[in-house]
Amino acid sequence: MQSIKVKSPATLSNLCCGFDILGMALQAPYDEIELIKKEEPGIIIKHKDNYGLPLDPLQNISGVALQALMNALDYKNGFEIVIEKKIKPGSGVGSSAASAAGVVVAANELLGKPFDKKQLVEFAMEGELLASGSRHADNLAPCIYGGLVLIRDTQTLDIIELKTPPLFITIIHPQIEIKTSYARSILPKEIPLKLAVIQWANVAGLIAGFQNNDYGLISRSITDVIVEPVRSKLIPGFDEVKNRSLAAGSLGGGISGSGPSLFMMSELHSTAIQVEKEMSDVYNKLGIEYKTYVTEVASNGVEVI
Ligand code: HSE
Repeated sequence: MQSIKVKSPATLSNLCCGFDILGMALQAPYDEIELIKKEEPGIIIKHKDNYGLPLDPLQNISGVALQALMNALDYKNGFEIVIEKKIKPGSGVGSSAASAAGVVVAANELLGKPFDKKQLVEFAMEGELLASGSRHADNLAPCIYGGLVLIRDTQTLDIIELKTPPLFITIIHPQIEIKTSYARSILPKEIPLKLAVIQWANVAGLIAGFQNNDYGLISRSITDVIVEPVRSKLIPGFDEVKNRSLAAGSLGGGISGSGPSLFMMSELHSTAIQVEKEMSDVYNKLGIEYKTYVTEVASNGVEVI
């Protein structure tokens, strides 16, 4: 095989209370990445979109992730990467993770699968480090494994695949920019024990709710008392979107990753559509451009197409 094309899904990270430890792959949107072997050494990057992302492989998330994989194999030939990003960079639904994960999965397939999924997450983390200045895998791991995952420990990459009941996820992406590095820099370095107890009770409740198809427990647990109060101030209309979505029957939600996208989960498709209308109404009134998605959990991560 000389070339391969994959689709690499958007992901929801944190899921409110699970800052840096929970993430979920989504059916839409997704990037398309083609990887072509070449005899000459080096990585060439081409874009089929207009986001103006770097062409220098050392400055490009996909380039850095692929180089990490090539170094591990001592691979001497090169690759051409053709990227069509459909997940807007900086949207908060794992755009950088999709670039990094897609390319390492594609390379692994082209080279006869020398690596397992956990090793691929490690290579892709080099790309995520370039993007956000920190090593977290809550977008990368679901992007590669699919479904809902828990990263119990980021150092050792102890990744646990979890179940979910059927869920409809409504996302609104206001066209404003929030850099992950900034959204991380404003977080408290220490938290009161009282808040920590509430937060870890909610993480446990959320996971139990997902495992037991208990929509009521998911709804009661999908709450964030530590990160959301700080970051939500960066997102106009946050409270109104959340309140109106809950009133429309959504189970709950909040900031997608480090924002600015917001997500709400619903048991029924009809509720998810109503939530999309409520969200759109809030942003129409605010006069801020936006894009919405109604999607579902993707059971697979990066897939060959
Ligand atoms: N867990 C990360 C954060 C996801 O919230 O900062 C963003 O990449």
